[in-house]
Amino acid sequence: MLRTHTCGELNVSNTGKSVTLCGWVHRRRDHGGLIFIDLRDRYGFTQVVIDPNHGTAFAAAEKVRSEWVLKITGTVRARLEGAAREDNPTGGIEVLVDELNVLNEAKTPPFEIDQEKDVGEEIRLEYRFLDLRRERMKNNIIRRHDIMKQIRRYFHDNDFVEVETPILIKGTPEGSREYLVPSRLYHGKFYVLPQSPQQLKQLLMVSGMDKYFQIARCFRDEDQRGDRQPEFTQFEIEMSFCDQDDVMNVMEGCFIEVTKAVRPDRALQAEPFPRITYREAMEKYGSDKPDLRFDMPLTNVTDIVKGCGFKVFADVASSGGMVSAMRAPRASVFSRKDIDELTDLAQRHGAGGLAYIIVKENELQSPIVKFLGEDVAKSIVEKVGAKTGDTVFFAAGQYPHALEPLGEVRKECAKRLKLIDESIWSYVWVVDFPMFEKSKETGEVGAVHHPFTRPHPDDETLVESDPLAARAIAYDLVLNGNEVGGGSMRIHEHDLQKRVFNVLGISDDDAQRRFGHMLRAFEYGAPPHGGIAMGLDRFCMILADEPNIREVIAFPKDQKAKDLMLGAPSAMPNQQIEELGIQIIEE
Ligand code: AMO
Ligand code: AMP
Repeated sequence: MLRTHTCGELNVSNTGKSVTLCGWVHRRRDHGGLIFIDLRDRYGFTQVVIDPNHGTAFAAAEKVRSEWVLKITGTVRARLEGAAREDNPTGGIEVLVDELNVLNEAKTPPFEIDQEKDVGEEIRLEYRFLDLRRERMKNNIIRRHDIMKQIRRYFHDNDFVEVETPILIKGTPEGSREYLVPSRLYHGKFYVLPQSPQQLKQLLMVSGMDKYFQIARCFRDEDQRGDRQPEFTQFEIEMSFCDQDDVMNVMEGCFIEVTKAVRPDRALQAEPFPRITYREAMEKYGSDKPDLRFDMPLTNVTDIVKGCGFKVFADVASSGGMVSAMRAPRASVFSRKDIDELTDLAQRHGAGGLAYIIVKENELQSPIVKFLGEDVAKSIVEKVGAKTGDTVFFAAGQYPHALEPLGEVRKECAKRLKLIDESIWSYVWVVDFPMFEKSKETGEVGAVHHPFTRPHPDDETLVESDPLAARAIAYDLVLNGNEVGGGSMRIHEHDLQKRVFNVLGISDDDAQRRFGHMLRAFEYGAPPHGGIAMGLDRFCMILADEPNIREVIAFPKDQKAKDLMLGAPSAMPNQQIEELGIQIIEE
């Protein structure tokens, strides 16, 4: 090595030692006569001092600028009384420089590395190699490495076999749009990038691998959000001869170990993790990923409003819909503007509006009480347990979608009323998801999870007769209101798989063409099996208290799926395009 120590290593026990350090100029201070440089590397910062007695080194130090790369040799000495810095492990010493070599100069960076300043994300992504020099980003990347290390160790210790599955696979849609890779050898044919190793891990069960594990890269060509990337990483398992509890328990064990190891400063809210059904989650929290760090449940008041004078509620109640009310404690502090913003939020999530009742000392203040009638309003207030100073918000419509806006209002109220306990990790399993759902856009029946998910044994006959009522053996893990992962027991029988394809509108021919490999495998002794996949990026984001997953990915895409550093996607030379038998249509 060019150095004897790293910049994070020296302390008073090294006093008097001659050392060589390499690193970047983090900060340089010219104290008229003495030059101080904070030398930085991945491990920390060390203060080095250059005095005019070392003429050559001093002359070099005078030219040095931020982010230059240096090698210095000198003697460790304790800092003077009062100059020691407790907050830095090397803060008790400094190195008096004898020799200073400039290993490389640096242009002035487009943003400061040495301060936790707000820097525009575009420039950060364009110069990601500099952004990663910043303390926060460096820590995020190293924490991610720690998390991956622990996850690997856990599954290796539990006898899971780590298998790599291919990235160039066949178009095998699971739900989202796929990325295509044109074949050079077979014009007009394409590989696709896997949305997840779903089918391959199931095929590994047919192979008898029994317990499979992978930290797998997945690709989905879908709209970007704060918690989504076009390519992302899952840690995921598949198990044979197991039931849902086996899969959930083994994954729960992993989350408990990793969370405790990586963030021991916060307690787990409950252990083992609580489990609630999808129906309970929707009815009680208006969400299939409920944040349980605060309570504020929704209450079904459909029976109370049946036949009342407020047409919106009465119509919904008499047409098989649901009217739900939520008590927001002390929310009478909300201004007109707060209420307008909450209404806007509810409407953006598909609500017709956001009815409310403010419980005052002597009256119920609300635009709907005159229609509801005093008695109905009072019964509702009583049923949800609202007291003076509270506000009751409402949602009315068809289960489950009508409850989602109120679920959003619940979260936003908790934020504004500061009801979220930020000192805990709140894990909850949501189980018994529906098997199928009707697309809001197209009205078509699709799989809630994916087409290989097993129907609940009690609901198998509903698959054809009433598909939307059929439950699946499918489960999600939720952390602080974020979906960190999901999985299911799988279909392992050829015939049941074909029945489910049929309900999904996939004809036998189509099924053979798209999923022939699965159907064939199921004819050769497929064991009962199930599994789960967790979003590694999301998990790291939450454990790092970061607001979006780009902050925990070394080289992420921006919100428009671009890599601003590499400049991808990019045009390709004509020859390469022609080799693929592809013609570009200019826009
Ligand atoms: P699913 O599609 O639910 O399941 O994905 C599992 C988890 O992966 C994470 N995730 C994402 N993270 C970042 N960006 C994205 N675009 C993105 N999409 C998903 C989420 C999610 O919970 N094969 C099944 C799993 C199984 O059944 O075993 C699957 O992929 O945290
Ligand atoms: P309207 O009679 O449509 O003006 O609605 C009266 C009140 O009920 C307003 O405060 C609306 O925001 C609210 N509202 C309308 N539709 C719904 C709904 N589906 N769920 C909850 N509140 C609603």
